[in-house]
Amino acid sequence: MSKENEKTLEVYKEKAHLYLANSLEHDKLDPKRAEQKRVKLEKLITSYFLSLPEHAKIFEIGSGDGANAKFIQSLGFDITASYTADDFIKATQNQGLKTIKFNALENSFPEKYWAVFCWRVFVHFTKEDALKIM
Ligand SMILES: C[S@@+](CC[C@H](N)C(=O)[O-])C[C@H]1O[C@@H](n2cnc3c(N)ncnc32)[C@H](O)[C@@H]1O
Repeated sequence: MSKENEKTLEVYKEKAHLYLANSLEHDKLDPKRAEQKRVKLEKLITSYFLSLPEHAKIFEIGSGDGANAKFIQSLGFDITASYTADDFIKATQNQGLKTIKFNALENSFPEKYWAVFCWRVFVHFTKEDALKIM
């Protein structure tokens, strides 16, 4: 794991509460735009998983506030959300989502999945980190 990613994960660990509170607050600044972005992303997710069987197992790396995992679950898939920081894990478990601790640079997938979903996470990886994960 690169030093850069190590530092990033320290920040996510320390500031989980801020991230979770602010992601909702930011949406309130421009609710219309937030809704447009959500609709666009949900369309994209739906089209990605169109060919998967019903109840297929999907794994999400770095689930943020859990909204994408929740949406994937609403499509009938068996989604597992994941985080590196415990506070995020608790927040997502409270939403009724199966959630595990997972560092994409250090851990192997605990099971086989039909698909892995990962949104705005690779931005935190150096080229070497990204190639390792791929
Ligand atoms: C900008 S947030 C995006 C969260 C969510 N996917 C979204 O779009 O709202 C970046 C996420 O990448 C995760 N992340 C960064 N490095 C990671 C790593 N090595 N393994 C797993 N997750 C990682 C962070 O913990 C954080 O949840």
